Amino acid sequence: MKITPSGSSCGARVDGVDLAGDLSPELIGKIRTAWLEHRVLAFAGQRMDDDALERFTLAMGGFGEDPFFAPIAGREHIAAILREAGETAPLFAENWHSDWSFLDRPPAGTCLLAIDIPPSGGDTLFANQIAAFAALPDDRKDALRSLIAIHSARLAYAPDGTYGEKDEGRSMAIRPDESANATQLHPLIQPHPETGEEAIFSTLGYIIGIEGMEQPEAIALLSELAQWQVRDEFVYRHRWEPDMLVIWDNRSVLHKATGGYEGHRRELHRTTIAAAA
Ligand code: SIN
Repeated sequence: MKITPSGSSCGARVDGVDLAGDLSPELIGKIRTAWLEHRVLAFAGQRMDDDALERFTLAMGGFGEDPFFAPIAGREHIAAILREAGETAPLFAENWHSDWSFLDRPPAGTCLLAIDIPPSGGDTLFANQIAAFAALPDDRKDALRSLIAIHSARLAYAPDGTYGEKDEGRSMAIRPDESANATQLHPLIQPHPETGEEAIFSTLGYIIGIEGMEQPEAIALLSELAQWQVRDEFVYRHRWEPDMLVIWDNRSVLHKATGGYEGHRRELHRTTIAAAA
């Protein structure tokens, strides 16, 4: 297994491993160590089908919960991130987020398998939230450590949200519903459950306020922090290749989709890795 760091704040390319083959505990251990170090791993040259994607997800910790997506036909835990060539709906996930941070137990990671990759564009951006926290002044770190964030899926997946009833012409199987209005509290700064490193957990979009803080003050704080969280020095731009599987750590990075592939189809199959028990 050859690991080549991206040279950015996070991310590494992995060559020389066959994830459709034997997933020995030794191999998974090596992958987990590299994953915790680089936070985003891009496995090149894979020959994975949906069975292999499921096997790998199970080996990495099991399936997480996936609300608001209908799975692909015949599978319970695989969703398609899909955009047809002629699609005109706004891009899916073109805002920074940590997957499903509004759940009681957000997923540890996400796997994304290339199915149909456009010739250019469609990069995925990742922002290292451990580096973003570490670079703050000490007094700012202390102030943020005391805050509890209010997470919710309402802006995206409620019937009146971005992907709600007025969202037309989208090929992805998104299923908005009223349950998106629920809220969930999480500390704004969280120690990584496996490494203990502190990270800024999630951002505006899925965070709708701060517990005990007036809304204008909370939104001002979150907006200012959101700009800091995605400064260039914390960001890795991932360029997709056919036959590539990417996994990322939702506890330490934010991510977002990008466009730039108008007139081309883009499809990836996605699973989430459950939080450790
Ligand atoms: C996602 O946020 O799951 C999708 C990212 C992408 O399409 O690049």
